Amino acid sequence: MAQERCTPALELEHLQRLLLSCREAKKSAYCPYSRFPVGAALLTREGRIFSGCNIENACYPLGICAERTAIQKAISEGYKEFRAIAIASDLQDDFISPCGACRQVMREFGTNWAVYMTKPDGTYVVRTVQELLPFSFGPEDLQKIQ
Ligand code: THU
Repeated sequence: MAQERCTPALELEHLQRLLLSCREAKKSAYCPYSRFPVGAALLTREGRIFSGCNIENACYPLGICAERTAIQKAISEGYKEFRAIAIASDLQDDFISPCGACRQVMREFGTNWAVYMTKPDGTYVVRTVQELLPFSFGPEDLQKIQ
């Protein structure tokens, strides 16, 4: 029964591609203000991978996180069903964890998909969007008003 509620595990090949892609994407980070590069890689239902990095701006609030860059790239290319996202940073001792804004944007596209939070040594922890953002507000809620 627990199995039904869990998002299916990724095939090893998909997972390895995803983990490599997020590390690679980190190299493109534009983060002259924070000096905190982040990379993300998003796996679609179709097996496509979209990567993204954080892109900061001299007008600080306009900066965007790596996760949302990847999601925006996928959506704008016509993909909106996601299996997983992997995130990489240079933090040595902590798994990189998505900010609240990114969790809400992930949630827009479903709650039952996987978020791989990595460390540079290749280890990771994985949680569903639901676990990272419980009791969330989403598109279905807008349909509930009569
Ligand atoms: N950042 C991300 O891109 N993703 C995260 O999961 C955490 C934070 C970025 C935003 C900003 O450019 C820099 O990291 C420092 O917060």
